[in-house]
Amino acid sequence: MKYTNIIEDIRTIRDFKKEEVPNNLIDEIIIDAQDSLLAGRRDDVSITFIKNGQKLFNTLSGKAGYFGKMIEAPHYILISSKKFEGYVENSAYIMENLRLKAWNIGLGTCWLSIEDEKELFTTLNIDKEFIPISLIAIGYQYKGFFKKDTSPRSSRLGVEDIIFDGQWGKQCTTEMLEARGIVNILYYSRLAPSWGNLQPWRFILDDNKIVLAIVDKDILQHLDAGIVMLYFEKSAHEEGILGKWRLDISNTDKYNIPEGYKALGYFEV
Ligand SMILES: Cc1cc2nc3c(=O)[nH]c(=O)nc-3n(C[C@H](O)[C@H](O)[C@H](O)COP(=O)(O)O)c2cc1C
Repeated sequence: MKYTNIIEDIRTIRDFKKEEVPNNLIDEIIIDAQDSLLAGRRDDVSITFIKNGQKLFNTLSGKAGYFGKMIEAPHYILISSKKFEGYVENSAYIMENLRLKAWNIGLGTCWLSIEDEKELFTTLNIDKEFIPISLIAIGYQYKGFFKKDTSPRSSRLGVEDIIFDGQWGKQCTTEMLEARGIVNILYYSRLAPSWGNLQPWRFILDDNKIVLAIVDKDILQHLDAGIVMLYFEKSAHEEGILGKWRLDISNTDKYNIPEGYKALGYFEV
């Protein structure tokens, strides 16, 4: 699977057919997505497949989805995690990897904000050590009578809007980004989905490091960060730049990151 092809193509699906997805397809994408982690260990994360979508839909209506607007789907997938450094980002990274793999085999998905995690704990019998973090609806897209997807694509910021040169606010020139071979990586990273499509991520080019800063508000932006880290890393790998995100970032004063934003990690290019 070529990540950048899927990244360009994928979009959120909110209308699903009632048709069930065969178990082997679900198993395939879950097993595949677990192979790549951002932080922690495999045992720190638990993936729950909810086969009976109707039942969860009824239980979570008013408690998940934007302002409680739950999306109706034949199935759902939940990622719960133990707490460790970067556990929220890691859970989103795995879930988005799963979404891309699902799209690659013809399945649509929709991220769902968890508004009331207590309900998920009890309904799904989650182990007390784990916290429900990432939830998606999954199934075959319903394309209507004409069987054609006519849903509009959501907009995104431009490459030049999301990267700074050395410190916050200082613009990077295209020549600079081309010389560093990172234009394509940023092009694909900006396609990352985010809560409310707010795109709360910015990058700072610091010598051989790309620093990621995000809006520092709540857990949702940390989910968005995990997703954009996946897009960045997989696009970088396909450009021949091998590396991994490091979350142990220090000495960030020199970047002049404004209040309300926070540096989360860096990637060496
Ligand atoms: C953390 C997160 C939570 C989201 N929660 C919801 C949700 O509760 N309901 C919904 O319809 N879409 C939700 N979305 C989907 C976003 O609205 C969508 O990704 C964004 O508008 C961009 O559209 P696209 O994915 O089609 O490119 C969520 C996305 C993320 C990353």
